[in-house]
Amino acid sequence: MGVVLVDIGGGTTDIAIFIEGAIWHAVVLPTGGEQLTNDVAVGLRTPYNTAEDIKIKYGHALPQAVMLEEIVKAEVFGEEGQQQIPRQFLAEIVGARAEEIFELVLKEIKRSGYDGLLPAGIVLCGGTAELPGIRDLARDVMGLPARIGEPQNLRGLVDTLHSPAFATTVGLLEWGVMHDLPKPVQQSANHSLKVPTWLKAFLPG
Ligand SMILES: Nc1ncnc2c1ncn2[C@@H]1O[C@H](COP(=O)(O)OP(=O)(O)OP(=O)(O)O)[C@@H](O)[C@H]1O
Ligand SMILES: [Mg+2]
Repeated sequence: MGVVLVDIGGGTTDIAIFIEGAIWHAVVLPTGGEQLTNDVAVGLRTPYNTAEDIKIKYGHALPQAVMLEEIVKAEVFGEEGQQQIPRQFLAEIVGARAEEIFELVLKEIKRSGYDGLLPAGIVLCGGTAELPGIRDLARDVMGLPARIGEPQNLRGLVDTLHSPAFATTVGLLEWGVMHDLPKPVQQSANHSLKVPTWLKAFLPG
């Protein structure tokens, strides 16, 4: 039983193919959410930070799922005040780049030779997995079942951590706990460093 984990972060998209619990293929693509934001900045002629805000608030991976009359307001370079931009246009920009990322992921999966061994399909995580519509886009482009991976059975900062952006970090911590890794060596504040013999010659007696 195999599954592909696709972690779409800001600067990179990390792909890991798991089969029977072991990683058989891993690759990092130099693309991710920042590329989506760049495209929004260029497409809407807005500053990068505005583009990032707009992407997070109104972004969608599927233009056909956005109502025609939905309008987003944004400051545009060279224009006074705010401009009205159809949300569908924003979704076209964001969706096109997300689609390209999934095409690259699919190419990697095929290149790995494990493409026939992935009945469990794709699990998406990373901040960009929060983009509405991304699950359906992934399924349509890659022709594999897709789900969004979210940390489960959390205690503590549940609201913050219960999101795909934290799935990898929480997963790594759980792995560490599960495998009972050796604890880091504790160093007390007054722990005296052992001075190498050769260095002692240079120190005041
Ligand atoms: N609701 C959202 N919709 C779309 N994109 C989002 C949303 N929330 C966060 N992102 C994007 O997710 C990206 C950050 O994801 P994440 O926190 O997983 O990255 P990272 O682990 O810090 O970066 P990397 O893995 O590339 O080193 C940013 O590009 C951000 O714009
Ligand atoms: Mg990351």
